[in-house]
Amino acid sequence: DMKIRIAIDGPAAAGKSTIAKLVAGRLGYTYIDTGAMYRALTYKALQAGIDLEKAGEVEALLPGTQIILEPGADGQTVLLDGEDVTAVIRTAPVTNGVSAVSAHAGVRAYMVAEQRRMAREGGVVMDGRDIGTAVIPDAELKVFMTASVEERARRRHLENLARGFDSDPEQLAREIALRDKKDSERKVSPLIRAEDAVLLDTTDMSIEEAADAIIGLAGKKV
Ligand code: C5P
Repeated sequence: DMKIRIAIDGPAAAGKSTIAKLVAGRLGYTYIDTGAMYRALTYKALQAGIDLEKAGEVEALLPGTQIILEPGADGQTVLLDGEDVTAVIRTAPVTNGVSAVSAHAGVRAYMVAEQRRMAREGGVVMDGRDIGTAVIPDAELKVFMTASVEERARRRHLENLARGFDSDPEQLAREIALRDKKDSERKVSPLIRAEDAVLLDTTDMSIEEAADAIIGLAGKKV
């Protein structure tokens, strides 16, 4: 049985992680959330009081940083220098700072090298912004997942409430749009649909429907 590599890219809060997790579970593959790595570094930089816009200062953290993604039954645990940061990297200060950190070329080079290593064996569903374009340009299946900004804000709002966080859907829509703009306009590997990625607009799709669509596409590749 051939184990393929599935790359899922798209803008913020399009449902990538929820759907990727489900697809990985059904296929018996490993789910890898690459955004968590950029988030973990952002958290570390914030803790250190570093100006996130300063490439040199952020990049100086990398040699002393260990980020481990541990696949588990319920998704992924994120360890930063041995500390479980799975929950804290989802908080607003990290979410609103991560695009500045991920724009630095040295940060991307470091993360992409790690991610390539993780995808080497196949049998992975990897989600992010540049998986199909930079991390695994030869992935057997590439999906570009989108949804309207309003729908994405609505989903993130429900997620926040479920986590017990304060949440305002209109503010979320503004923050999501701003993060997409920064991610799409950065110089190094901006968020862009790979030419050979299948476009999946999930605005009117359930999680199940989106997962079924991807599993159907994967079935044609193995
Ligand atoms: O997917 P998630 O929303 O957790 O990603 C957080 C941020 O990490 C993105 O807004 C983007 O700035 C960055 N990112 C990236 N490349 C990836 C994954 C995430 O630049 N492959």
